[in-house]
Amino acid sequence: MYEQAFKLKKIMEEKNRISNPSKSVKVYCVTSGKGGVGKTNLSVNLGLAIQSLGKKVLLIDADLGLANIDVVLGLYPKYNLSHILSVGKTIQDIILEGPLGISILPGASGIYNLANVSYAELELFIDSFKMIADNFDIIIIDTGAGISKNVISFIQSSDETIVVTTPEPSAVTDAYAMIKISRNYCDKIHVIVNKADNYKEAEYTMDKLSKSTKKFLNIHINYLGLVLEDKVVYKANMNQTPFFINYPDSLASKCLINISRRLIYGEQSLSKSNSTLDGWFSKLVSFIKANVGVM
Ligand SMILES: Nc1ncnc2c1ncn2[C@@H]1O[C@H](COP(=O)(O)OP(=O)(O)OP(=O)(O)O)[C@@H](O)[C@H]1O
Ligand SMILES: [Mg+2]
Repeated sequence: MYEQAFKLKKIMEEKNRISNPSKSVKVYCVTSGKGGVGKTNLSVNLGLAIQSLGKKVLLIDADLGLANIDVVLGLYPKYNLSHILSVGKTIQDIILEGPLGISILPGASGIYNLANVSYAELELFIDSFKMIADNFDIIIIDTGAGISKNVISFIQSSDETIVVTTPEPSAVTDAYAMIKISRNYCDKIHVIVNKADNYKEAEYTMDKLSKSTKKFLNIHINYLGLVLEDKVVYKANMNQTPFFINYPDSLASKCLINISRRLIYGEQSLSKSNSTLDGWFSKLVSFIKANVGVM
Protein backbone atom coordinates (compact mmCIF):
# COMPACT_ATOMS: atom_id res chain seq x y z
CA MET A 1 0.00 0.00 0.00
CA TYR A 2 2.73 2.40 1.09
CA GLU A 3 4.85 1.41 -1.87
CA GLN A 4 1.96 2.06 -4.27
CA ALA A 5 1.39 5.53 -2.83
CA PHE A 6 5.08 6.26 -3.14
CA LYS A 7 5.07 5.21 -6.78
CA LEU A 8 1.99 7.33 -7.47
CA LYS A 9 3.65 10.34 -5.84
CA LYS A 10 6.70 9.88 -8.04
CA ILE A 11 4.54 9.71 -11.17
CA MET A 12 2.65 12.85 -10.13
CA GLU A 13 5.90 14.71 -9.41
CA GLU A 14 7.21 13.76 -12.83
CA LYS A 15 3.96 14.84 -14.49
CA ASN A 16 4.03 18.15 -12.61
CA ARG A 17 7.59 18.74 -13.60
CA ILE A 18 6.70 18.13 -17.22
CA SER A 19 3.71 20.49 -17.17
CA ASN A 20 5.48 23.30 -15.27
CA PRO A 21 7.30 25.87 -17.37
CA SER A 22 11.01 25.08 -17.53
CA LYS A 23 13.77 27.36 -16.37
CA SER A 24 15.26 29.73 -18.94
CA VAL A 25 18.54 28.96 -20.67
CA LYS A 26 20.76 30.99 -22.95
CA VAL A 27 21.55 29.26 -26.23
CA TYR A 28 24.74 30.10 -28.14
CA CYS A 29 25.44 28.73 -31.60
CA VAL A 30 29.16 28.60 -32.53
CA THR A 31 29.78 28.98 -36.27
CA SER A 32 32.41 30.07 -38.77
CA GLY A 33 32.67 30.78 -42.46
CA LYS A 34 35.95 28.97 -43.02
CA GLY A 35 36.60 25.47 -41.66
CA GLY A 36 39.32 24.60 -39.18
CA VAL A 37 39.35 27.97 -37.40
CA GLY A 38 38.89 26.33 -33.96
CA LYS A 39 35.11 26.11 -33.37
CA THR A 40 35.16 22.68 -31.75
CA ASN A 41 38.15 23.40 -29.52
CA LEU A 42 36.67 26.74 -28.48
CA SER A 43 33.18 25.31 -27.89
CA VAL A 44 34.51 22.62 -25.55
CA ASN A 45 36.94 24.84 -23.64
CA LEU A 46 34.57 27.80 -23.49
CA GLY A 47 31.95 25.43 -22.08
CA LEU A 48 34.43 24.28 -19.44
CA ALA A 49 35.47 27.85 -18.61
CA ILE A 50 31.81 28.85 -18.15
CA GLN A 51 31.16 25.74 -16.06
CA SER A 52 34.17 26.67 -13.87
CA LEU A 53 32.43 30.00 -13.19
CA GLY A 54 29.49 28.13 -11.67
CA LYS A 55 27.07 27.89 -14.59
CA LYS A 56 25.71 24.56 -15.78
CA VAL A 57 26.60 23.97 -19.40
CA LEU A 58 25.20 21.58 -21.99
CA LEU A 59 27.47 21.19 -25.04
CA ILE A 60 25.75 20.03 -28.18
CA ASP A 61 27.67 18.46 -31.01
CA ALA A 62 25.95 19.50 -34.22
CA ASP A 63 29.03 19.10 -36.41
CA LEU A 64 29.11 16.26 -38.89
CA GLY A 65 32.84 16.81 -39.45
CA LEU A 66 35.67 14.64 -38.23
CA ALA A 67 37.08 16.51 -35.25
CA ASN A 68 34.04 16.33 -33.02
CA ILE A 69 33.49 17.37 -29.43
CA ASP A 70 33.73 13.78 -28.22
CA VAL A 71 37.16 13.40 -29.85
CA VAL A 72 38.47 16.57 -28.18
CA LEU A 73 37.11 15.27 -24.87
CA GLY A 74 38.21 11.66 -25.36
CA LEU A 75 34.65 10.41 -24.90
CA TYR A 76 33.08 7.62 -26.90
CA PRO A 77 29.32 8.03 -27.03
CA LYS A 78 27.27 4.89 -27.62
CA TYR A 79 24.00 6.62 -28.36
CA ASN A 80 22.55 9.72 -29.96
CA LEU A 81 19.09 11.26 -30.09
CA SER A 82 17.85 8.79 -32.68
CA HIS A 83 18.19 5.99 -30.09
CA ILE A 84 15.35 7.50 -28.05
CA LEU A 85 13.01 6.33 -30.78
CA SER A 86 14.83 3.27 -32.12
CA VAL A 87 15.84 1.50 -28.90
CA GLY A 88 13.90 3.37 -26.21
CA LYS A 89 16.90 5.11 -24.61
CA THR A 90 16.22 8.04 -22.30
CA ILE A 91 17.83 11.43 -22.75
CA GLN A 92 19.83 10.71 -19.58
CA ASP A 93 21.31 7.61 -21.29
CA ILE A 94 22.48 9.76 -24.18
CA ILE A 95 23.96 12.75 -22.38
CA LEU A 96 27.57 12.19 -21.31
CA GLU A 97 29.29 13.76 -18.35
CA GLY A 98 32.62 15.43 -19.08
CA PRO A 99 35.24 17.19 -16.92
CA LEU A 100 34.02 19.66 -14.26
CA GLY A 101 30.57 18.05 -14.56
CA ILE A 102 29.87 19.54 -17.98
CA SER A 103 27.19 17.70 -20.02
CA ILE A 104 27.58 16.68 -23.65
CA LEU A 105 24.82 15.77 -26.08
CA PRO A 106 26.58 13.85 -28.84
CA GLY A 107 25.51 12.82 -32.24
CA ALA A 108 25.02 15.19 -35.08
CA SER A 109 23.51 12.52 -37.32
CA GLY A 110 20.75 11.85 -34.79
CA ILE A 111 19.85 15.53 -34.79
CA TYR A 112 19.60 15.84 -38.54
CA ASN A 113 17.23 12.89 -38.80
CA LEU A 114 14.74 14.96 -36.83
CA ALA A 115 13.39 16.37 -40.08
CA ASN A 116 11.50 13.10 -40.47
CA VAL A 117 10.00 12.65 -37.00
CA SER A 118 6.23 12.50 -36.62
CA TYR A 119 4.28 14.84 -34.34
CA ALA A 120 3.90 12.08 -31.70
CA GLU A 121 7.62 11.33 -31.79
CA LEU A 122 8.42 15.01 -31.50
CA GLU A 123 6.26 15.21 -28.36
CA LEU A 124 8.31 12.38 -26.89
CA PHE A 125 11.53 14.28 -27.56
CA ILE A 126 10.15 17.50 -26.14
CA ASP A 127 9.05 15.72 -22.95
CA SER A 128 12.54 14.22 -22.67
CA PHE A 129 14.14 17.66 -22.92
CA LYS A 130 11.62 19.05 -20.46
CA MET A 131 12.72 16.47 -17.91
CA ILE A 132 16.30 17.75 -17.93
CA ALA A 133 15.52 21.41 -18.67
CA ASP A 134 16.17 22.60 -15.12
CA ASN A 135 19.69 21.17 -15.13
CA PHE A 136 21.23 23.80 -17.41
CA ASP A 137 21.92 27.53 -17.59
CA ILE A 138 23.76 27.71 -20.88
CA ILE A 139 23.76 25.69 -24.09
CA ILE A 140 26.69 25.83 -26.49
CA ILE A 141 26.18 24.32 -29.94
CA ASP A 142 29.21 23.44 -32.04
CA THR A 143 28.26 23.47 -35.72
CA GLY A 144 30.08 22.66 -38.94
CA ALA A 145 31.77 25.40 -40.99
CA GLY A 146 29.94 27.45 -43.58
CA ILE A 147 26.36 28.08 -44.47
CA SER A 148 24.14 25.05 -44.86
CA LYS A 149 20.46 24.59 -44.12
CA ASN A 150 21.40 22.63 -40.99
CA VAL A 151 23.66 25.36 -39.64
CA ILE A 152 20.97 27.94 -40.42
CA SER A 153 18.42 25.89 -38.44
CA PHE A 154 20.73 25.99 -35.43
CA ILE A 155 21.32 29.72 -35.80
CA GLN A 156 17.55 30.33 -36.07
CA SER A 157 16.83 28.34 -32.92
CA SER A 158 19.58 29.99 -30.82
CA ASP A 159 19.48 33.22 -28.84
CA GLU A 160 22.89 34.40 -29.97
CA THR A 161 25.53 33.41 -32.52
CA ILE A 162 29.26 33.29 -31.91
CA VAL A 163 31.28 33.56 -35.13
CA VAL A 164 34.85 32.29 -34.87
CA THR A 165 37.54 33.61 -37.21
CA THR A 166 41.31 33.68 -37.33
CA PRO A 167 43.32 36.75 -38.46
CA GLU A 168 43.89 35.10 -41.86
CA PRO A 169 42.25 37.27 -44.58
CA SER A 170 40.36 34.32 -46.13
CA ALA A 171 38.88 33.43 -42.73
CA VAL A 172 37.83 37.05 -42.16
CA THR A 173 36.17 37.25 -45.60
CA ASP A 174 34.30 34.00 -44.88
CA ALA A 175 33.33 35.26 -41.40
CA TYR A 176 31.84 38.34 -43.05
CA ALA A 177 29.80 36.11 -45.41
CA MET A 178 28.60 34.08 -42.42
CA ILE A 179 27.58 37.23 -40.52
CA LYS A 180 25.76 38.53 -43.60
CA ILE A 181 23.57 35.42 -43.62
CA SER A 182 23.31 35.02 -39.83
CA ARG A 183 21.94 38.50 -39.23
CA ASN A 184 18.76 37.44 -41.08
CA TYR A 185 18.12 34.83 -38.41
CA CYS A 186 19.73 36.16 -35.25
CA ASP A 187 20.18 39.72 -34.09
CA LYS A 188 22.99 39.18 -31.56
CA ILE A 189 26.25 38.27 -33.18
CA HIS A 190 29.49 37.89 -31.26
CA VAL A 191 32.95 37.34 -32.70
CA ILE A 192 35.99 35.52 -31.28
CA VAL A 193 39.35 35.94 -33.01
CA ASN A 194 41.21 32.66 -32.57
CA LYS A 195 44.85 31.73 -33.21
CA ALA A 196 45.99 35.33 -32.92
CA ASP A 197 49.70 36.05 -32.46
CA ASN A 198 48.99 38.95 -30.12
CA TYR A 199 46.29 41.36 -28.92
CA LYS A 200 47.07 43.91 -31.62
CA GLU A 201 46.62 41.42 -34.43
CA ALA A 202 43.26 40.29 -32.99
CA GLU A 203 42.05 43.87 -32.55
CA TYR A 204 43.12 44.77 -36.07
CA THR A 205 41.19 41.73 -37.38
CA MET A 206 38.09 42.66 -35.40
CA ASP A 207 38.34 46.27 -36.48
CA LYS A 208 38.40 45.27 -40.16
CA LEU A 209 35.42 42.97 -39.70
CA SER A 210 33.30 45.37 -37.69
CA LYS A 211 33.99 48.28 -40.07
CA SER A 212 32.72 46.16 -42.99
CA THR A 213 29.63 44.91 -41.15
CA LYS A 214 28.80 48.46 -40.05
CA LYS A 215 29.35 49.97 -43.49
CA PHE A 216 27.76 47.31 -45.71
CA LEU A 217 25.29 45.56 -43.41
CA ASN A 218 24.63 48.37 -40.97
CA ILE A 219 24.90 46.06 -37.97
CA HIS A 220 26.93 46.01 -34.80
CA ILE A 221 28.88 42.87 -33.95
CA ASN A 222 30.16 42.30 -30.44
CA TYR A 223 33.85 41.51 -29.90
CA LEU A 224 34.04 38.81 -27.25
CA GLY A 225 37.83 38.68 -27.32
CA LEU A 226 40.75 36.73 -28.66
CA VAL A 227 42.31 33.34 -28.09
CA LEU A 228 46.03 33.35 -28.67
CA GLU A 229 47.73 30.78 -30.88
CA ASP A 230 49.01 28.35 -28.26
CA LYS A 231 50.68 24.96 -28.67
CA VAL A 232 48.79 23.59 -25.67
CA VAL A 233 45.76 23.30 -27.99
CA TYR A 234 47.64 20.80 -30.14
CA LYS A 235 49.08 18.99 -27.09
CA ALA A 236 45.66 18.73 -25.48
CA ASN A 237 44.15 17.34 -28.68
CA MET A 238 46.88 14.71 -28.81
CA ASN A 239 45.97 13.65 -25.23
CA GLN A 240 42.24 14.01 -25.90
CA THR A 241 41.92 16.12 -22.77
CA PRO A 242 40.78 19.73 -23.15
CA PHE A 243 43.50 22.34 -22.62
CA PHE A 244 41.35 24.14 -20.05
CA ILE A 245 41.69 21.00 -17.88
CA ASN A 246 45.28 19.99 -18.68
CA TYR A 247 46.76 23.47 -18.97
CA PRO A 248 44.55 25.77 -16.87
CA ASP A 249 47.30 28.39 -16.59
CA SER A 250 48.04 28.49 -20.31
CA LEU A 251 47.49 31.65 -22.34
CA ALA A 252 44.67 29.95 -24.27
CA SER A 253 42.85 29.04 -21.02
CA LYS A 254 43.23 32.58 -19.66
CA CYS A 255 41.79 33.96 -22.89
CA LEU A 256 38.76 31.70 -22.52
CA ILE A 257 38.15 32.74 -18.95
CA ASN A 258 38.10 36.37 -20.12
CA ILE A 259 35.61 35.52 -22.86
CA SER A 260 33.42 33.56 -20.43
CA ARG A 261 33.34 36.47 -17.98
CA ARG A 262 32.32 38.80 -20.81
CA LEU A 263 29.54 36.43 -21.81
CA ILE A 264 28.23 35.89 -18.30
CA TYR A 265 28.80 39.21 -16.56
CA GLY A 266 29.30 41.59 -19.48
CA GLU A 267 26.90 44.11 -20.89
CA GLN A 268 25.70 41.54 -23.42
CA SER A 269 24.56 39.22 -20.67
CA LEU A 270 21.97 41.78 -19.58
CA SER A 271 19.73 40.53 -22.35
CA LYS A 272 17.66 37.92 -20.58
CA SER A 273 16.81 34.81 -22.50
CA ASN A 274 13.25 33.68 -23.07
CA SER A 275 14.40 30.26 -24.23
CA THR A 276 13.89 27.03 -22.35
CA LEU A 277 15.67 23.81 -23.24
CA ASP A 278 12.50 22.11 -24.50
CA GLY A 279 11.34 25.32 -26.21
CA TRP A 280 14.68 25.62 -27.98
CA PHE A 281 14.47 22.01 -29.12
CA SER A 282 10.98 22.32 -30.48
CA LYS A 283 12.01 25.51 -32.34
CA LEU A 284 15.03 23.68 -33.74
CA VAL A 285 12.95 20.81 -35.09
CA SER A 286 10.44 23.14 -36.72
CA PHE A 287 13.29 25.03 -38.42
CA ILE A 288 14.96 21.79 -39.54
CA LYS A 289 11.62 20.62 -40.98
CA ALA A 290 10.95 23.99 -42.62
CA ASN A 291 14.44 24.15 -44.13
CA VAL A 292 14.26 20.69 -45.72
CA GLY A 293 14.31 21.29 -49.42
CA VAL A 294 15.48 24.88 -48.98
CA MET A 295 18.93 25.46 -50.60
N1 LIG B 1 44.19 28.83 -30.23
C1 LIG B 1 44.75 27.84 -30.95
N2 LIG B 1 46.10 27.70 -30.98
C2 LIG B 1 46.67 26.71 -31.69
N3 LIG B 1 46.01 25.80 -32.41
C3 LIG B 1 44.66 25.88 -32.41
C4 LIG B 1 43.96 26.89 -31.69
N4 LIG B 1 42.63 26.71 -31.87
C5 LIG B 1 42.50 25.63 -32.68
N5 LIG B 1 43.70 25.14 -33.02
C6 LIG B 1 43.98 24.00 -33.92
O1 LIG B 1 43.25 24.20 -35.12
C7 LIG B 1 42.79 22.97 -35.64
C8 LIG B 1 41.30 23.07 -35.94
O2 LIG B 1 40.57 23.18 -34.73
P1 LIG B 1 39.05 22.73 -34.61
O3 LIG B 1 38.88 21.32 -35.03
O4 LIG B 1 38.58 23.11 -33.26
O5 LIG B 1 38.42 23.67 -35.73
P2 LIG B 1 36.92 23.67 -36.29
O6 LIG B 1 36.61 25.07 -36.66
O7 LIG B 1 36.03 22.99 -35.34
O8 LIG B 1 37.08 22.77 -37.60
P3 LIG B 1 35.88 22.25 -38.53
O9 LIG B 1 35.47 23.42 -39.38
O10 LIG B 1 36.53 21.16 -39.33
O11 LIG B 1 34.78 21.77 -37.63
C9 LIG B 1 43.14 21.90 -34.63
O12 LIG B 1 44.29 21.23 -35.09
C10 LIG B 1 43.46 22.67 -33.37
O13 LIG B 1 44.45 22.05 -32.59
MG1 LIG C 1 34.65 21.36 -35.62
